[in-house]
Amino acid sequence: MAFIDFTQKNMINIPEIDDQHRNLFAILNKMHAATSEGMEQSAIVEIFNDLIRYTVEHFETEEIQMKQYDYPKYAAHKKEHDDLTNQAIELQKLFYDGSATVTFELLDFLHQWLNDHTMGTDTEMGEFLCEQQ
Ligand SMILES: [Fe+2]
Ligand SMILES: [Fe+2]
Repeated sequence: MAFIDFTQKNMINIPEIDDQHRNLFAILNKMHAATSEGMEQSAIVEIFNDLIRYTVEHFETEEIQMKQYDYPKYAAHKKEHDDLTNQAIELQKLFYDGSATVTFELLDFLHQWLNDHTMGTDTEMGEFLCEQQ
């Protein structure tokens, strides 16, 4: 069983965004597997960097679509994206200078965040976008 499963509950019915979410879940699974297997920290941090890079791209996709259709909850949604991005950048700094390592606690936090955000904030956005298209 995968660490995080992409299920019907995570689908928001916007194919481009669902594909990106599926990819995000896959990268998080890869990061979890690497941690469980006791892979070298530098290799795990590489996967974390991929996750952040892809997440930032994904957030941009959503933000462009929200702006395009004047989504009324854009600001609150973007704040959730920005808060996570800022936290991730802070962590990246700690990983680079060796003062922190990837832990299962971090993986659990990302698991929770992705699930909550896709099933809550993104689903709400998806309902709005589906009505516009
Ligand atoms: Fe999303
Ligand atoms: Fe989002």
